[in-house]
Amino acid sequence: MKIAFIIGTRPEIIKMSPLIDEVDKRGIDYILIHTGQHYDHEMSDQFFQDLELKEPDYNIGVGSDSHSKQTAIMMKGIEEVLVSEKPDIVLVQGDTNAVLAGALASAKLHMAVGHVEAGLRSYDKTMPEEINRMVADVCTNMFFVPTEDTAINLLFEGISPQNIFITGNTVVDACHRNLKIASKTSNIMSQLELEGDILSLTLHRAENVDDPQRLKNIIKALLNIENLTIVFPAHPRTVKTLKEFGMYDTLKNAPHIRMIKPIGYLDFLILQSNSKLMITDSGGIQEEAITLNIPCLTLRYNTERPETVQAGGNILVGADTEKITYNVAKIMGDEELYHNMQEAPNPYGDGTTSEKIVDAILDSYHQGKLKIKAPEEIGGRQAKKLLTMHEKITVAEFEKNNPNYTIKIVFDEGNPLFPQPDLSLEGKIVLVSYFVGGN
Ligand code: UD1
Ligand code: UDP
Repeated sequence: MKIAFIIGTRPEIIKMSPLIDEVDKRGIDYILIHTGQHYDHEMSDQFFQDLELKEPDYNIGVGSDSHSKQTAIMMKGIEEVLVSEKPDIVLVQGDTNAVLAGALASAKLHMAVGHVEAGLRSYDKTMPEEINRMVADVCTNMFFVPTEDTAINLLFEGISPQNIFITGNTVVDACHRNLKIASKTSNIMSQLELEGDILSLTLHRAENVDDPQRLKNIIKALLNIENLTIVFPAHPRTVKTLKEFGMYDTLKNAPHIRMIKPIGYLDFLILQSNSKLMITDSGGIQEEAITLNIPCLTLRYNTERPETVQAGGNILVGADTEKITYNVAKIMGDEELYHNMQEAPNPYGDGTTSEKIVDAILDSYHQGKLKIKAPEEIGGRQAKKLLTMHEKITVAEFEKNNPNYTIKIVFDEGNPLFPQPDLSLEGKIVLVSYFVGGN
């Protein structure tokens, strides 16, 4: 059994790290393929050191480029490695160009693809990440999804529930595993010599930082928030466009704003834990904030992490100066709201996601399901129909009694549910698929 991990950027290194540890702990053979999309020490190497990961076995060294060129170079490099290493499964994580290139190259080689954090959808196709997630999911064989709602996104795209594993998000494993270590080793708070209440900020999404008007609106809001110390570890993309649009000095010279270089993961966990509030457009930080019980404002108009908003820990404020300023003042001035945001339940699991993923992979491997083959049954067409269930029967029992039927989605008073094996079907409507014709 051999697993190939594909990583390319800061969040992939962080979120794959607990899974790499788990695979390593179980003595499974694995290789790390770094695409080199992030290459600065503070965007890549620093995380290998903090998370005590082995050096990548391969680095494609793609660097920065247009999306198509980057994806093409990565695919070529990844293909060469996969052909020579022949892994049983290739794991990709999240929604970066590395995920797109890795999933596509693997699927073309008929290699099994496991997508960690599959199924997220913002339903905004102007985001490069949305395209990456959707294309990767077309190539994926094992979908490791963080929540039931995410699983349902995939069911509505026709993905078979048998291939979906609701595991939580490895971001929780990473937080739990590293927070204790970080509290012993990080001295970021004393290093920064901060005074008063802290608001931590990250900002790097293309749709915010490459758009001068949006960037200007966000900065205007930050300049208004003078009663908090804003710590801003700035992503290199953002530094570049701030300089390009002539906005860098304004931020750098604001007395209540500390713009610094990106910091290591252990330091960032400590900075977040000591913050009153997070403002971000990061995907991972929306998840970390709710894990660490820090209220979060998200500088986006939509999110593929709607669970955080539903749970009450995250508010979407777009790049709207008024909305940002108003919500910061509201949260900081209303103790009850602040408390409720802090106490929002974490939808992303209990920190055992990596164990669940490795269990599922081993199970599939032992059942021969990682061998991707063309179907050999002489089948007819796949038909689908809705059944109203009156019997007291579970999903597993129904499928055992009706081997030709696969339950795709269950509806309870119109609400979609994932067909967990022990779910009772009494009084519900189910969408089933079955083969007709053939022999
Ligand atoms: C990428 C991902 C994004 C993810 C983010 C995590 C895609 C399409 N985007 O965005 O989903 O949220 O990583 O941080 O895959 N740069 C450096 N040094 C580096 C890396 C980048 O200076 O080590 C600069 C370059 O000017 C580069 C720019 O940042 O052009 C953008 O980098 P890129 O990797 O294209 O996208 P990110 O914004 O980092
Ligand atoms: N992070 C970090 N140092 C920083 C900023 C962020 O270690 O200076 C971590 C953060 O803890 C989170 C991850 O980077 O786990 C999020 O990455 P990013 O925001 O770049 O990408 P996204 O999650 O939006 O894809």
